[in-house]
Amino acid sequence: MNESGQPRDNDSPAIEVRGLSMRYGSLVVMKDLDFQVRRGEIFIIMGGSGSGKSTLLKHLIGLKAPAEGSIHFDGEDFGGAEPDARKEMLKRMGVLYQNGALWGGLTLGENVALPLEAYTDLDAEAIGEVVSLKLALVGLRGLAPLYPSEISGGMRKRAALARATALDPEVLFFDEPSSGLDPITASRLDDLILQIRDSFGTTVVVVSHDLASIFKIADRALFLDIEKKTMTALGPPEDLRDDPPSDEVQRFLTRSSEAGSGQSTRQTA
Ligand SMILES: Nc1ncnc2c1ncn2[C@@H]1O[C@H](COP(=O)(O)OP(=O)(O)OP(=O)(O)O)[C@@H](O)[C@H]1O
Ligand SMILES: [Mg+2]
Repeated sequence: MNESGQPRDNDSPAIEVRGLSMRYGSLVVMKDLDFQVRRGEIFIIMGGSGSGKSTLLKHLIGLKAPAEGSIHFDGEDFGGAEPDARKEMLKRMGVLYQNGALWGGLTLGENVALPLEAYTDLDAEAIGEVVSLKLALVGLRGLAPLYPSEISGGMRKRAALARATALDPEVLFFDEPSSGLDPITASRLDDLILQIRDSFGTTVVVVSHDLASIFKIADRALFLDIEKKTMTALGPPEDLRDDPPSDEVQRFLTRSSEAGSGQSTRQTA
């Protein structure tokens, strides 16, 4: 449609990955990844532990460079961009890391204010208004003065989400949002992710192996096969479950949900 050099805002993909291979030194994590993330969709990266989900996320946000291939953010080659251009691209992304913690020595309000102080010219009063608004959007109205240690794990994730959305990102990246949360709290966080996408049209990329969450929020899901070291499925998770392209995908999507939601939050490097 827009392959011929005429990117149209809504048709062109938010992210395009071409021929991506990912490596740590001589360890090949994944190779030959080709996919696009569409604007406004909730795109899940799924796969077993160690398959390379977090590593792929690091590539998508430019924290790690491709061993081969390229990643295009809004049509622009991320890896090839000049530092200034990359910084501009990064401002348009919000990220919640797998163990993405708030700063414990700062209040929730101060945490959410950090990206606003770093990347905008807003004065203190305006920042305070944005902080209040962002906290209210995640259901934490009036809790700006509290410290992370004073609130529950689910509320901390919400506060981290408020921080990640502080700059109104076009794309929101989320590594294992439900890890460490009970199913009900995790489900509420999923509601919030859906709400953010629906209200703001934000493109959301989520790493997850939590089946309940995958079926609840994903428009499409990408499966990373740890044995084949490449992607072996991409589509709506219901379609992949009903007509699985491989035994691994079938096993992954039909395993008992206990195995899915109870997995621990392993530390990433
Ligand atoms: N910094 C690193 N240096 C070397 N190897 C790494 C590093 N980070 C991850 N790996 C290896 O890369 C592979 C993919 O790791 P990654 O953390 O991306 O997997 P994951 O799918 O996110 O797993 P999990 O579900 O446990 O979070 C694993 O074999 C891991 O041991
Ligand atoms: Mg991971």
